[in-house]
Amino acid sequence: MPEIRAAIFDAYGTLLDVHAPVLAQSERIGPHWRRFSADWRAKQLEYTWVRSLTGPAHHRDFWRCTEDALDWVSARHGLSDPDLRAALLDAYRACPAYPEAPAVLGALRDRGMATAILSNGEPGMLAAAVAAAGIADLLDDVLSVEAIGVFKPHPLVYRLPERRFGHAAASMAFISANAWDTQGALACGYRAFRVNRTGDPDEYGLRARAEELDDLAKLPAMLVA
Ligand code: LAC
Repeated sequence: MPEIRAAIFDAYGTLLDVHAPVLAQSERIGPHWRRFSADWRAKQLEYTWVRSLTGPAHHRDFWRCTEDALDWVSARHGLSDPDLRAALLDAYRACPAYPEAPAVLGALRDRGMATAILSNGEPGMLAAAVAAAGIADLLDDVLSVEAIGVFKPHPLVYRLPERRFGHAAASMAFISANAWDTQGALACGYRAFRVNRTGDPDEYGLRARAEELDDLAKLPAMLVA
């Protein structure tokens, strides 16, 4: 197995907890807040795929997809409070890191590995979230799909870290909580790690092709002997 020179992380859902914004507003949203958060996430992702598949003229950045998805899910759940909308979007720009994430990034860097984010997020929202989560100094770079205007899992996206770090995909680890993203990275030759915090069933036959983790904590030991 080639030596791993860089660890490339998905952002939302992998380093950053995307359900924290809704949790913070759960009393205003009501008993179905978990469903609300899951629907918001699912619609947001659907919009990225539809926008990429319908061609460059239809591209809208991830912030716009996030807003559009929130508006849809709010209507679906019968919520139309503009203050709640603003509070949720503000919180989304400051999604917290998962508790173990800073120490894991620090451990990888201490062992000489480059660390970066490769995200669908647009640069402004990523910069805000990374700063709010306190992990900006633990990353060598934050790469956004906006550099090429097409969303993951388009193969061109996974070439961005190769260009940035000058390593072949096979010499880099790609870490994601999203099965579809893990599949995208494997298709481009990365050594892939799937973070499956909720014990979801296997997809794309990933268990035979990627290493699965409950959270990020064991990653440094798996990457650096
Ligand atoms: C990201 C989202 C889609 O790319 O998880 O950060």
